[in-house]
Order: sequence, then structure tokens, then C-alpha cells
Amino acid sequence: MKINLKKSPSKNSRLNKVEVEKASSKSLNVEDLTKVFSKGQGFAKSTIAAVNKVSFSLDLDRPEIFTLAGESGSGKSTVAKLILGFETATSGRIRYKGEEITDLKGKKEFMRDVQPVFQNPFETFNPLKKIDTYLYETEKNFKMAETDRDQLVEKSLELVGLSLAEIKGKYPSEMSGGQLQRTSIARALITDPSLLITDEPVSMIDASLRMSIINLFKRLKEEQEVGIIYITHDLATAYYVSDRIAIMLRGQIVEMGSVEKVLDNPLHPYTQLLKASIPAPNPASKWESDIALSDLEAKEFSQRGCKFSGRCPKVQAICKECEPENYKVEDRDVKCHLYK
Ligand SMILES: Nc1ncnc2c1ncn2[C@@H]1O[C@H](COP(=O)(O)OP(=O)(O)OP(=O)(O)O)[C@@H](O)[C@H]1O
Ligand SMILES: [Mg+2]
Repeated sequence: MKINLKKSPSKNSRLNKVEVEKASSKSLNVEDLTKVFSKGQGFAKSTIAAVNKVSFSLDLDRPEIFTLAGESGSGKSTVAKLILGFETATSGRIRYKGEEITDLKGKKEFMRDVQPVFQNPFETFNPLKKIDTYLYETEKNFKMAETDRDQLVEKSLELVGLSLAEIKGKYPSEMSGGQLQRTSIARALITDPSLLITDEPVSMIDASLRMSIINLFKRLKEEQEVGIIYITHDLATAYYVSDRIAIMLRGQIVEMGSVEKVLDNPLHPYTQLLKASIPAPNPASKWESDIALSDLEAKEFSQRGCKFSGRCPKVQAICKECEPENYKVEDRDVKCHLYK
């Protein structure tokens, strides 16, 4: 059952034919999205395509949990930032309901419909600010139709298993990481979004509380019809919670399909390697343009042909020369010459 945050009818209830047709175009299309960054300084200066011709589509009327997984530095967060408008694309496009988001007139509608949940709840909230103010501010920014603000805030807190009484007047230091992350999700739900973009949402949370947040995402999808882009290193939670998964390597999606297909029977040698062992996140390597790339990163980002060819146990001569296309194999896309 969906608790309705807005006064309008729920997304799937009693829509007339015209509304159904209009609603059915509610999609997010990412097409050949590319972001080039400069890295390092002086002689060590180089450019990398942190996101390199990434394409995928989400039908926001059929909510799903879509996971972006891959090693540190594969470009997952940059994809999220590009969609949320925190970074500008070098090329490619992002369309929402058929319109490019950069020239979307109803940009506020997009921002209301697509909400972020950040990795570190301790950084999301200013330590000197009471946390309930974030919910009220979001309500005010988006001028939600709900007349009773307390009721709206209460309803969105209820969806994450909290109540206004529990958080009212509290500072971040008075709450646990799990409660803060729930509050951060409640804040995102104030606008009744169609999509949450969550970047490593449980990595900073006590291990014992992680599954409750993961289950919350599952419930939000199933009961509130909220789609989720879930970014993670953790293939176990990805397998548990996702519908589809895209495996990223050096800025590219190398395998994408239903999570069962991709993780039960990975076809790309890189997905096979990831499944065998996935390195832990390296927070120090992120965002900092002046931190030089590791030798392996630099080599793979600039590698002609397949970015994985230097590490691939099934490498062929063509892999080092030509970039593989995306091949449709066993109901998924695989970017690998083996499947030509
Ligand atoms: N603002 C920036 N300036 C320069 N380089 C950047 C910037 N942001 C990201 N990068 C680089 O782009 C590449 C991809 O980074 P990104 O943070 O998107 O990867 P990620 O997959 O999210 O990694 P992690 O799993 O560690 O969070 C990395 O080499 C990173 O250092
Ligand atoms: Mg990241």
C-alpha cells in the first residue's frame, strides 16, 4: 500500500487513458554520457574519461532498483552526479520524459522527482542544525501542496520507520548513523519522488544496521513505487536488492542485465573477476583532481581497445586494438569480443 504524500491520487490509481499515456513517457534516458576530467599536475597531467559513453534507461512508471557496481574509480559516482546536475557532461545526453535535462523548463519538477541520498549521513547534516529543519526546508523549497507541513513531514518519516517526535529538535550528534540515514531518506521522500539516487548509502553505517536500510529501499520500491539507482561495491547487497545491474569498468558499462542473469552467470571476464573478489572502496582516491592516478588506473583508462585487456585471462589480439561493441547475449548487454 502506498501512503500518499501528495493530495493528488496515487501514481497508479484510477488514472484515465490520457493520464496513463502521459505517465507512460516518464522515463530517464542516459545516452552516450561522457565526462572527461583532468588529473594530476605538471608532467603527470593527463585526462581521463571517468564516464565513457554510458547508456541506460529507466522507466519510472515501472519502479526498479537499478544498481551501478564496479571497482573504485570506475565512474559510478560521476554518473550519479551528472544525473543530479552536480557535474556537467562533456558529451552525451540525459533525457527525462523525453526532454534533455539541461534545457528542461520544468527543472524543478525533475529535481522534485529525482532525489539524492548521500553516502555519509554524518556529512549530509550540519552538526549545528536541528535535523527536522532539513525536512521542513525541502517542503518549503518545493512548495509541496500538502497544507499541513507537520503531517507531510510525519508521513515521510513514517515511511522510513521514524516519527517526528523522535527527531524533533535533535542535532545530528544525538542520533545514530542508521537514524540519520533514515532521516536523510525521509527528507528525499518529502517531494514524493519517482527515483532516488543513492551512492553507497550504507557504507558509513554500522554493519548491523545495513540490512535494515537495504530492506527499506526494497520496501520503498514495492510499496511506494519509488525507483532507485543504487550505487555500491557490494555485490551481495546488490544481488539481494536489485532488479537490474550495470557493471562499470574505467568509465564504461561492460555488462548489464537482470541481476540474477549477470551475477549468477557473469559473461564478461571483468564481472567474473568482480564476483570472485571485489576490492574495498578507496575514499582517498575520490573527487580530488590533484591526486595522480595509480599506474593501473592510468594504464587502463588510456588503454586502446578493451579497458580490461591488460588483466583479462581470456584476452585476444583484437582486445588491445579495438573497443568491443555491446553484444546482446543471453538477455543482457556484454561489451566483450568473446561474444561477437
Ligand atoms: N572532480 C573530479 N576531478 C578530477 N577527477 C575526478 C573528479 N571526480 C572524479 N574523478 C575521477 O574520476 C574517476 C571516477 O571517479 P568516481 O568517483 O566516479 O568513481 P567511483 O566508481 O564512484 O569510485 P568509488 O567506488 O571509489 O566511489 C576516478 O579516477 C576519480 O579520481
Ligand atoms: Mg563513488
